[in-house]
Amino acid sequence: MRLFFAAWPPPETARALEAWASPLEGRITPAHKIHLTLAFLGDVAPERAILAARRVQAETHLIPIEIAQYWKHNRVLWAGPPETPKPLKALVDKLHFELDRAQFTLERRPFAAHVTLLRAARAPESLPPLPRIEWPVREFVLARSVLSGRGSTYEIAERFPLQDPG
Ligand code: 2AM
Repeated sequence: MRLFFAAWPPPETARALEAWASPLEGRITPAHKIHLTLAFLGDVAPERAILAARRVQAETHLIPIEIAQYWKHNRVLWAGPPETPKPLKALVDKLHFELDRAQFTLERRPFAAHVTLLRAARAPESLPPLPRIEWPVREFVLARSVLSGRGSTYEIAERFPLQDPG
């Protein structure tokens, strides 16, 4: 079992991303599995992670999904913002701070705001233009990835609402 914190898109955002990726070659992420990882914990007990995340105070915001790229090293095709929006960076920094304080060892893959849309993807010669997508982040979640013979399924263990900017 692997635990991670993520932003989970509303269904219409997820469907737009899935629809954009569907003509491309690779193993597509179905809409209900599309997410943006904020912190990856691995195989740990959730209770302390939940307590740490409850201490995070951060604001609701929008993520403009404006770029799509192919990572050759892991054959992942992803979409994301051209640069990490300030409130998303603030959320990630606060979450990492609280997790550090609670003595979690975070995977030190530096944070890169990316949404995996295809795995085992073929290097695209060109990519279709992305539709205009503004992903509203109103909460973040603790998710668990359960590996089974048929790949992974995700379950949401806990939700953490964000505050509207004052
Ligand atoms: P990926 O989409 O780039 O594979 C569940 O596995 C989520 O955690 C995925 O979003 C995955 O990112 C991410 N993830 C897996 N291993 C990770 C690691 N070592 N560090 C950071 N994120 C990781």
